[in-house]
Amino acid sequence: MLSIDQQLKEDALLIEERLDALTRDFDRDYPELFESIRYSLLAGGKRIRPFLALQFCRLFGGNEEIALDLGCALEMIHTYSLIHDDLPCMDDDDLRRGKPTNHIVYGEATAVLAGDALLTEAFNVASSPAIPAEIIPGAVRVLAGASGCFGMIGGQMLDMKGEEERLDFEALLEMHAKKTGALIRAACLLGCLSAGITDSNDVRYQAAVTYAENIGLAFQVIDDRLDAVGTEEDLGKPIGSDEESGKTTFLTFMSVEQALDYATDLTEQAKNALSLFPARDVLCDLADYLLNRTH
Ligand code: IPE
Ligand code: IPE
Ligand code: MG
Ligand code: MG
Ligand code: MG
Repeated sequence: MLSIDQQLKEDALLIEERLDALTRDFDRDYPELFESIRYSLLAGGKRIRPFLALQFCRLFGGNEEIALDLGCALEMIHTYSLIHDDLPCMDDDDLRRGKPTNHIVYGEATAVLAGDALLTEAFNVASSPAIPAEIIPGAVRVLAGASGCFGMIGGQMLDMKGEEERLDFEALLEMHAKKTGALIRAACLLGCLSAGITDSNDVRYQAAVTYAENIGLAFQVIDDRLDAVGTEEDLGKPIGSDEESGKTTFLTFMSVEQALDYATDLTEQAKNALSLFPARDVLCDLADYLLNRTH
């Protein structure tokens, strides 16, 4: 069996090739927009969300080509969220995925439009003729639900509110579940969908949701922790950004050591959720990898 690092690397190649192919003819009329979209989309990144879609597809015997395209659609939405998250009116950061942020290179207006285009084109990918007609409505609902008011956007609103006033712990959990958890949950559900699993009473669906919710929360706990104790070189994005903008994060409520303990507990719960499935190893290794990551 491949190590988790090797598996991530191998799948990232597949994902990046597909992202490249899916965005290759955006070039027609607006070369600057095209460049700016691909600058952020093909800039690297861990590709965790499409990886999760692929791995849940494999766990449950789904169709990999479908999972890959739906995972790429989600990665386009994730990349849009990062471009907008870095804008001066939001987190005002100047480094992402090891390179100057989109608005630093292309200007704010093009960065806003590149984000808007990625969000919109993601739905083109998810509803293209390559996806079987019976899967499209479910995929669109998962993507829209995770990225809209009740998902990532709602979480980003709470995040901005957490700069002006201190959120309580319950509101912090809600913020993290939405701004980060929602897209991670969507990734796992898209993998299920590629295997025809749509019934929320199905044990496989429920296992995917419990796994996703726990790694999703752990992921943002670690992100908050790395903003304080990571290095810019490892992370490819600035450190200290949360503190500088006075955000409410996990570290408002606990020490960096306690945050790691908290994320460790969540990771154990995520792994336990998959105990029924013999082929769970890659997803368990991924949960540990995300807990111990430095980037
Ligand atoms: C960064 O996500 C934004 C958060 C949700 C914390 P990732 O850490 O997955 O970023 P990339 O895709 O690897 O750049
Ligand atoms: C970002 O959270 C989540 C989204 C982009 C939706 P952060 O603002 O903590 O992400 P980083 O630290 O800039 O990657
Ligand atoms: Mg932010
Ligand atoms: Mg940010
Ligand atoms: Mg952060």
